[in-house]
Amino acid sequence: MNTTVDTPMDTPLNADERWHAVGSTDDFPDGDLWPVVADGLPIVVYREGEAFYALYDQCSHGPTRLSEGFVVDGCVECPLHQGLVDLKTGEPRSEPITVAVRAFATQVVGGEVRIAVPPVGAASLSKPTGAMAGCGTHGSACGTPQGS
Ligand code: FES
Repeated sequence: MNTTVDTPMDTPLNADERWHAVGSTDDFPDGDLWPVVADGLPIVVYREGEAFYALYDQCSHGPTRLSEGFVVDGCVECPLHQGLVDLKTGEPRSEPITVAVRAFATQVVGGEVRIAVPPVGAASLSKPTGAMAGCGTHGSACGTPQGS
């Protein structure tokens, strides 16, 4: 099951999630995509003014890092097939992307950007073991059942 949220949030999504620092606010200039790793999970961070948004850094349509894409009208455009994903919610905005990308809560504490992620092996998000872990077609965070 996919979980999407309106970020930024100041509380974790699920009880098992924990905050992980990924850098200072100055590390994330406004309006661009920034790849980070939080507790082993690849995540793309997007800053809009004082707000920070975080998505799982893998397209739900294929083995592509969204952080290598482009910002287009509040969305990230996947560099492989140009599907669009809402940067704030992870919801798909254009074909061929039809499955939401996992969004994570963010917060800023003392100038430090933090992202709430579940621990490795948590039911709410399995740690990817490769570019195409999970369903075999999509990343493990895409929410698509095995064999799809
Ligand atoms: S891999 Fe992203 S749109 Fe196809």
